Amino acid sequence: MAKLTFTINGTRRTLDAAAGARLIDVLRDGLGLTGTKPGCREGTCGSCTVLVDGRAMRSCITPAASVAGKRVTTIEGLATAGKLHPLQQAFLDYEAYQCGYCTPGMIVGAAGLIARNASPGEQAVRQALDGHICRCGSQPRIVQAVRAAAEVMRRG
Ligand code: FES
Ligand code: FES
Repeated sequence: MAKLTFTINGTRRTLDAAAGARLIDVLRDGLGLTGTKPGCREGTCGSCTVLVDGRAMRSCITPAASVAGKRVTTIEGLATAGKLHPLQQAFLDYEAYQCGYCTPGMIVGAAGLIARNASPGEQAVRQALDGHICRCGSQPRIVQAVRAAAEVMRRG
């Protein structure tokens, strides 16, 4: 075990993490943030995506120790003051999910995209979410929802 300090959803936390622990396990088991979903656990499905210092990362292949001193944002950290993040609202409005298992990773991945491209075209969204697998086939509505959310965020 080693002490790990990082900022999670705006709050600085220190906790014990096993040597070699993956970020996803620290989030889910150590902090109870189960919105980050385990899928393949090999870095290929995107369901475990979180933001590390604003960049989308696969938490299943991210060593927990590597986020020491950094800012991690999970799906639980996107809503502010009881108000859904525009991406969360757009996913609801466009019904961009069926089972919802891929949804947290999709939304967090999209947040990472919009942070670096405020006006993503369809291709940019498809490219950014290419590595996110939706087993329910909701991709067309997901792309619409991400573009609609980006527009809402541009308008402020
Ligand atoms: S669980 Fe992390 S990419 Fe699939
Ligand atoms: S909504 Fe079911 S996996 Fe995407």
